[in-house]
Amino acid sequence: QKLDLELAAIEKGGYDHFMLKEIMEQPQAIFDSMRGRLDLEKLTITLSGIEQYAEQICKANRIVIVSCGTSWHAGLVAEYLIEELCRINVEVEYASEFRYRNPIINEGDVILAISQSGETADTLVALENAKSKGAIILGVVNVVGSSIARLSHAGAYTHAGPEIGVASTKAFTAQLTVLELIALKIAYIKKSIDDDQYAHLLNELNAVPDKVQAILDSQIPKIREIARKYKDARDFLYLGRGYNFPIALEGALKLKEITYIHAEGYPAAEMKHGPIALVDENLPVVFVATKDRYHEKIVSNIQEVKARKGHVIAVITEGDEVSKQLAEDYIEIPEADEIVAPILSVIPLQLLSYYIGVERNQDVDKPRNLAKSVTVE
Ligand code: AGP
Repeated sequence: QKLDLELAAIEKGGYDHFMLKEIMEQPQAIFDSMRGRLDLEKLTITLSGIEQYAEQICKANRIVIVSCGTSWHAGLVAEYLIEELCRINVEVEYASEFRYRNPIINEGDVILAISQSGETADTLVALENAKSKGAIILGVVNVVGSSIARLSHAGAYTHAGPEIGVASTKAFTAQLTVLELIALKIAYIKKSIDDDQYAHLLNELNAVPDKVQAILDSQIPKIREIARKYKDARDFLYLGRGYNFPIALEGALKLKEITYIHAEGYPAAEMKHGPIALVDENLPVVFVATKDRYHEKIVSNIQEVKARKGHVIAVITEGDEVSKQLAEDYIEIPEADEIVAPILSVIPLQLLSYYIGVERNQDVDKPRNLAKSVTVE
């Protein structure tokens, strides 16, 4: 029993839980997912699997992203990236819906599968159906040699290392990193962005591991304080716009699966079409409000919530004095181009869920009713 505990402690790298260990490993996981691929000297991205199918990807009428859960949220970020940088139409599908609705798949369609385990049944079957109809299957998978990896024509592995915590953290940021590389690679081939923007974004991506480390080094005390304050809340709203909208969804999913508190992610601008009726003095509302093209608008969304006595918790860019004044609580992250910001803005939300789960004495590594890999329907 004592040996088991000691062994478990070693496996957790001295952290209380695998989830925290894996959150803290993210600078390394993101770096490892770029290693050997992003060359800042030559300003090149090497992704042999993608290069092999570059022609088909560039001339594809659309790219259909198929995934589940957290990986589906990564797919939503990829939709914004690929459409903006590559000017290719992207559709993001829940694999569990896609597999049953007899979707239209044309020869030459490109399917991008995103999966940490590479064994998710819904995703696997959706891909088998699409492959049988002549689609090209590209995989972004963490487990080497997994079923989805083997079924794919090509792809790019994330190098997050084994993820033990049921709630996906480092695999998600590794997925975002690889998806950034894929979008930038295709944009470069298609010449859909100019050389200056390309070089700028490569530098921005290269700087992400250090910026994630800075968040982990400085924001945990503040996040623990917020976790203590809201650990007994019954509902949360998570709001974001643009690239941060999928991050709001991911933050809400993390909270649900780790703390069992109900949470809903929503596009911030959509609140006025109904859900703002939910806002009152009992509702904490998390805004993912980093400095980007929508910033002015999301600040007014924050004011709308404050006017209705909602408790505003905001993830903001360092030095954003306006949001600091408005938010009841805020977590600061380093400045970054909005194209790479989602990799940073999710970190505080992972930590918030983790610390609320700890405050509620819950099994954050193995939440009730959940499996690490959903290999059944
Ligand atoms: C993530 O926190 C969840 N545990 C879950 O949604 C997961 O992302 C989903 O089941 C997909 O798993 P996969 O990435 O291994 O395919």
